[in-house]
Amino acid sequence: MKPLVAPSILAGNHAALADSLREAEATPGIEWVHIDIMDGHFVPNLSFGPQTVKNLRPGSKLFFDVHLMLDNPHLYVEAFVEAGGQNVTIHTEPDYPHLETLKKIRELGATCGICINPGTSTEDLQPFLEHVDLVLLMTVQPGFGGQKFREDVLPKIETVAKWRADNDYPFRIEVDGGVDDGTGLLCKNAGADTFVCGTAFFKAPDKLAFTETLQA
Ligand code: DX5
Ligand code: ZN
Repeated sequence: MKPLVAPSILAGNHAALADSLREAEATPGIEWVHIDIMDGHFVPNLSFGPQTVKNLRPGSKLFFDVHLMLDNPHLYVEAFVEAGGQNVTIHTEPDYPHLETLKKIRELGATCGICINPGTSTEDLQPFLEHVDLVLLMTVQPGFGGQKFREDVLPKIETVAKWRADNDYPFRIEVDGGVDDGTGLLCKNAGADTFVCGTAFFKAPDKLAFTETLQA
């Protein structure tokens, strides 16, 4: 699986998100951007809505990787795909029709991902593994950028990577939260291939070197 860094524009200037997107896109090798959607309920913070995604879409060729941290993502997947989301990831934790929602994302023409928080068992991913294009393992409790990477998630990456290898599943394994060129390499060694980097990417003095370290 080709390794990919997905800069998270949560760490950008929210009054000039298009600039953050351009900054990411100007870095050779960057193909994805990660867009965090928060509802102030599933996570204790608010971020962007479909209108933000729609307005960013024409200015960028990057693959829009949308991470829905919502209690009711099934009510919003259509809006985010129509706005330009190309992958939409939803969490296992809230109560809503997960499988139906994953299928709906694909029917709408996007790829779909399933995500667990650091405290959620990898077993909870099992029913969805054959139905997803991406598995996202949170390496912080979601809600805010700039938190410390949780090393206790590394064995969970190894578990999911083993399931993927044993079953020839085609999904990506993405990590999100506190990922920099050091912690990202730990994730890579554990089996991750897709690295969401917010603070670390936007603060990196040499974004190309940063990206190459993880995408090598
Ligand atoms: C956390 C978000 C992340 C966030 C990561 O709730 O899901 O995508 O942007 O930010 P950093 O890389 O700063 O931890
Ligand atoms: Zn995210």
